[in-house]
Amino acid sequence: MEHSATDFAQTLGVAPGALPATCRGLIESADFTYEEPSPRRHDEIVLGIIKHVDSDAPTQVGQQRADVWERCWGENLENFVASEFQLEALVPKFIKPGQPARLDQRYILPRNPSFELAFFQVCRAFYYQKYLSGIRSAYEFGCGTGFNLVALGKQIPNLKLYGLDWSQSACKMVNLIGEKHKLDITGIRFDFFNADRGLKLDPHSAVMTLCALEQVGPRHAPFIDFLLEKRPEICINMEPIEDLYDEGNLADYLALRYHRKRGYLSGFLPRLKSLEIEGKIRILEVRRMFFGSLYHEGYSFVVWKPV
Ligand SMILES: C[S@@+](CC[C@H](N)C(=O)[O-])C[C@H]1O[C@@H](n2cnc3c(N)ncnc32)[C@H](O)[C@@H]1O
Repeated sequence: MEHSATDFAQTLGVAPGALPATCRGLIESADFTYEEPSPRRHDEIVLGIIKHVDSDAPTQVGQQRADVWERCWGENLENFVASEFQLEALVPKFIKPGQPARLDQRYILPRNPSFELAFFQVCRAFYYQKYLSGIRSAYEFGCGTGFNLVALGKQIPNLKLYGLDWSQSACKMVNLIGEKHKLDITGIRFDFFNADRGLKLDPHSAVMTLCALEQVGPRHAPFIDFLLEKRPEICINMEPIEDLYDEGNLADYLALRYHRKRGYLSGFLPRLKSLEIEGKIRILEVRRMFFGSLYHEGYSFVVWKPV
């Protein structure tokens, strides 16, 4: 089986002819074929997930993880320097190659070990094209290595890019990218839990989070309030959104259990919906990709703007 360009168009909610050229190029250059697991393999996958979720292995996200992230990005920074600043060294290790994935609420066995990364790159490129073409500055909060900003800078040149993270090493990496690759990109320290109201956003700016706000669990209010005050032109959040799962589906139910065990983002979409009712924001799009890693779907998009 294959997730074809037509399937991607459906996933992204457009007619196949309306897929941007960047997305078509990415789809053509990667292998999106996969196999359905046999009933026995399927049971092994499900059992493995249940055992993992029931074990002590999944760690809880939150404030206490600051040191863990600092260490993680410190190692990545060393690798980046050791690789002589190769952009490939910026792909984060939490996108694990060679694993079963989830597609359309079931498990699949991709042939391409980098299926997940390649799938995500198509979706990311689509949203960049759809919402960021008329923007002058883009801020990624919780940017990690900065690899999403590098992709954005290549896709839409002449943007001013900012990578924000609570990890000092992440900010260093972002500044090194700018220095070594002649990109207009700046690293700035920022903590979702104590959003710095002194930070000014450029006019015509976009704010993005990609698998980052997930880390705050239910404590998204300081960041949302910060955005309401700063009024960026557009906000794109690509995050695991628990409200989009269907508890009546096995793969979704297990994803929810994993999501809750880790303490991922909760109450975010309901808060945005109430802000929309209060007339404070406009939600432009909520889209589930029906795609994810072994444990959950981190690739749901919510696009909104303060009004
Ligand atoms: C899963 S990683 C995603 C990184 C990047 N967005 C990506 O797609 O590769 C989560 C990121 O959120 C950052 N983070 C976690 N909690 C944070 C907080 N309270 N304030 C700012 N950044 C935070 C971590 O340092 C890490 O870079």
